[in-house]
Amino acid sequence: MSTDVAVDAAVSERIDAFVRDVIRPIAPAMARGHGPSPKHLVGAAGEAGLAGILTPRDLGGAGGTHLEFASFIEAVAREDASSAVILDVHLSVGTEPIIVFGNDDQKARYLPRLARGEWLAGFALTEPAGGSDAAALQTRAVRDGDAYRLSGTKTFITGAGDADLYVVMARTGEGSRGISAFLVEAHWPGVSTGVPLEKMGLHGSWTGELVLDSVSVPEANRLGDEGFGFRVAMGTLDSGRVGISAQAVGIAQGALDVAVRVARERGAAGVDVDATALADMEARTVASRLLTRHAATLVDAGGAVTRDAAVAKLYATDSCVAVAHAAFELCAPESARADHPAAVRLCDAKACQIYEGTNQIQRMVIARELLQPSKLQ
Ligand code: CAA
Repeated sequence: MSTDVAVDAAVSERIDAFVRDVIRPIAPAMARGHGPSPKHLVGAAGEAGLAGILTPRDLGGAGGTHLEFASFIEAVAREDASSAVILDVHLSVGTEPIIVFGNDDQKARYLPRLARGEWLAGFALTEPAGGSDAAALQTRAVRDGDAYRLSGTKTFITGAGDADLYVVMARTGEGSRGISAFLVEAHWPGVSTGVPLEKMGLHGSWTGELVLDSVSVPEANRLGDEGFGFRVAMGTLDSGRVGISAQAVGIAQGALDVAVRVARERGAAGVDVDATALADMEARTVASRLLTRHAATLVDAGGAVTRDAAVAKLYATDSCVAVAHAAFELCAPESARADHPAAVRLCDAKACQIYEGTNQIQRMVIARELLQPSKLQ
């Protein structure tokens, strides 16, 4: 079972069937970068009723919870981390800002096709000059009648080249209060993408640049008020980090599955196995899952989640690298082959410590929360 009693049984069955019938067969090809395109994958999720888990039912989605979303991403990542990050970005940072911050017109125009998996969504915050200091972004949005002209370059954008709609953060003034969020359609004049980056892992997930060359974006596509974009980005990333935590749990579980299988085979052949390493891997994976589910539950309850999402992201992603590394060692020397499942998971794991806020940023967020004057005794 991919999920547990906290998730609706029908949703759990749908997730299990999707993972079994869609993800498992493509996992080896995705690991080599030869799988179906991100849009094709999201289309398949749409057919399974899973491309709009968080989208309200009256807008074509499943009206599900963040706990269900996290269970879905974990189950997919256990088989294939590339598919997990594609689906995570679409469901979370690509779609959720529209659910949370969109007006009725924006929701009606975009959410149904995203929830059906007809359109793929992306999130464009990071720029070549910097990613961690998000408030220093340089992409400009200049007023032009009842539209804005957007110019700038975004990089490390998941889905770039295949996405139909991007949530783009651009500068309309100075400082973090001078950032606005926009919904930019990929086919609009002036929007282009470069060739996908060659990464050390996650080969099935396309990542690249999004270039905006004086793109005319109607005012009707500004998400929230002018100057509200940094809050859109930060609020989106708070719950988005739950998705990355879930992806990390899935990768760790997948690595542990491989290690246990190899250890059993070797044990049956009379070879000593490192049982202590397996126990540590299990403990870290279970703890990561609990932290992730706790943060997901807080998002569902509508409470403050900044600190708990950062804690889950920090712990789960550091753990998935540690667990994947331990699995790699336990499976050596066979794991030195690039297509060995332990090697694939180790290469896929590393990115989780970096995207949606590096773990250094998570530590900063957690420490700031702890040191807020209101929280000091
Ligand atoms: N929720 C709502 N508002 C928030 C917030 C939050 N979590 N965090 C900060 N804010 C607000 C503050 O209240 C403040 O508002 P006022 O101006 O009204 O006072 C404003 O934002 C500025 O806050 P800070 O001074 O704390 O901002 P900062 O410049 O010091 O930066 C940061 C904070 C946490 C370091 C932020 O820059 C950050 O999160 N950086 C990492 C960026 C990141 O995660 N990028 C991921 C890219 S997407 C991706 O990776 C997807 C993928 O491909 C998988």
